[in-house]
Amino acid sequence: MSKLDARLKETADRINTALDALLPKPQGPEARLIEAMRYAALAGGKRLRPFFTLEAGRIFDADEASLMRAAVAIECVHTYSLIHDDLPCMDDDDLRRGRPTLHRAFDEATALLAGDAFLTFAFEVMAEPATHHDPQMRCKLIAGLAKASGALGMVAGQAADMAGDDIGSDLIAVTRMNRLKTGALINFAVDAGALIGCASDAEKTALTRYAHDIGLAFQMVDDLLDAEGVVRDTGKAVGKDKARGKVNFVTVMGADATRERVRMLADQAKRHLSIFGPRAQVLLEAVDFIVTRRH
Ligand code: IPE
Ligand code: IPE
Ligand code: MG
Ligand code: MG
Ligand code: MG
Repeated sequence: MSKLDARLKETADRINTALDALLPKPQGPEARLIEAMRYAALAGGKRLRPFFTLEAGRIFDADEASLMRAAVAIECVHTYSLIHDDLPCMDDDDLRRGRPTLHRAFDEATALLAGDAFLTFAFEVMAEPATHHDPQMRCKLIAGLAKASGALGMVAGQAADMAGDDIGSDLIAVTRMNRLKTGALINFAVDAGALIGCASDAEKTALTRYAHDIGLAFQMVDDLLDAEGVVRDTGKAVGKDKARGKVNFVTVMGADATRERVRMLADQAKRHLSIFGPRAQVLLEAVDFIVTRRH
């Protein structure tokens, strides 16, 4: 196992343990809802957004406990987004992380409510004093997460995704959609680490630019995996974007041009890190993981 793989695994293990400890235990009349939340949250997932928060913060020796709490909150928003993304009224998917999607394993109403609960739980986790001693910092984190996730962020991107051709099927429209639906939260994951680490303005800018590039590259690879990947690796259905008439990078540019652009964004992302020298080594290596990932 490479050093980066070990680091990714360590992050995933820590996030699983933290989620397990923070989520309520299934009991009483709401047991089924809690069970559904646990099913969705504790079954794999790369935990990439938490990884970015932790590694961005580590550049500045930020407090690990604060980074972990913020990382968990961000992963809760991500979890909600996947649950709702898979619903019949959205992508109508049956498989996620190699298992039946939440509404398949439980039922639609429970999946909808579990998603709702994850979204609010994220803000509960972020708001609690354990996340940071300074209430102003907590407010900044809460506002940042809300903005990245909401109607001018991820939700806007999901709306554009659902609109398909109606938003236009050119590179500008698809880039904007992906910046919003996937890029906004990845950007905030990196920014949260810089914020907790009290990075300087120049350092924050460099990391924001890095996050911009990897966020776009990440969704391009997701689109490539949808077009060319195999279920055994991805743990979710493939070939569904084209079948459903979705507009994505591969449908607009073709696979080769998408790959070329991923390479360009990857080089650019690495260059943004140069001001940190060896302190950003892990984030640097993470770029290659994003480009070459199979799941
Ligand atoms: C999938 O995200 C949805 C997108 C935003 C492309 P991930 O690929 O990070 O999913 P998990 O959490 O690892 O399952
Ligand atoms: C999902 O994008 C983005 C969000 C959940 C915000 P996709 O619909 O492409 O993700 P997958 O392919 O189902 O994981
Ligand atoms: Mg979708
Ligand atoms: Mg989907
Ligand atoms: Mg996809």
